[in-house]
Amino acid sequence: MTHPIRIAPSILSVNLGHLAHSLESISCADYVHIDVMDGHFTPNLTFGPEMVRACKGLTDLPLDVHLMITNPDETIDWYIDAGADLVTVHYETASHLNRVVNHIKSRGIKAGVVLNPSTPVCMLEDIIDDVDVVMLMSVNPGFSGQSFIEGTVAKLRKLTELCRAHDADPLIEVDGGISLATINRVVAAGANLLVAGSAVFGADDPAQMVRDLRDAGEAARAPRA
Ligand code: DX5
Ligand code: ZN
Repeated sequence: MTHPIRIAPSILSVNLGHLAHSLESISCADYVHIDVMDGHFTPNLTFGPEMVRACKGLTDLPLDVHLMITNPDETIDWYIDAGADLVTVHYETASHLNRVVNHIKSRGIKAGVVLNPSTPVCMLEDIIDDVDVVMLMSVNPGFSGQSFIEGTVAKLRKLTELCRAHDADPLIEVDGGISLATINRVVAAGANLLVAGSAVFGADDPAQMVRDLRDAGEAARAPRA
């Protein structure tokens, strides 16, 4: 479990009129996080595959596409064809999670599973060996700028234990309310890929905030197992 700390700014927090400039401003990040919401699974409607395609043309960073949509198996190829490098699917939306995860991997990109704040880590028991990434939501999906849910820290510890029991080593991603005030707690509990929307794009200097978050995360890193 020696993954470096990686930062994934979420474009949900950008002024879309300045998308190109915003992406340029975080070119020192590790991923661009794209929140796809369908107005059914989430109380908000956001981006489709054309946004993924637009980002692909505007940045060299890998694209982390977070699908918050019902029936993801019906449309997942749209996002892969548009240039996603990592697709994460909510456990709560996929009736055939194993099939979806293996399909994503068969297309040559990374596959991840996401848990809502109220979905327990034990639901990953029979998929943990197959995923490249596990993401824990630390807010209820829908909006940027929400407060971090503290129970995520205990869930991260359980996730770390589950990974150890399976000798699995996925990236461990956390999404929602990540800032300089919270990153140390989630990293100490095992997270290594941190999504940050309002903290990065609300900062005067987004690039410096990416570096500050990464440095704070590296300093708080959990002791090697
Ligand atoms: C929420 C989204 C998040 C959001 C994070 O449903 O999945 O990615 O953009 O925004 P912050 O970092 O502001 O909580
Ligand atoms: Zn997200």
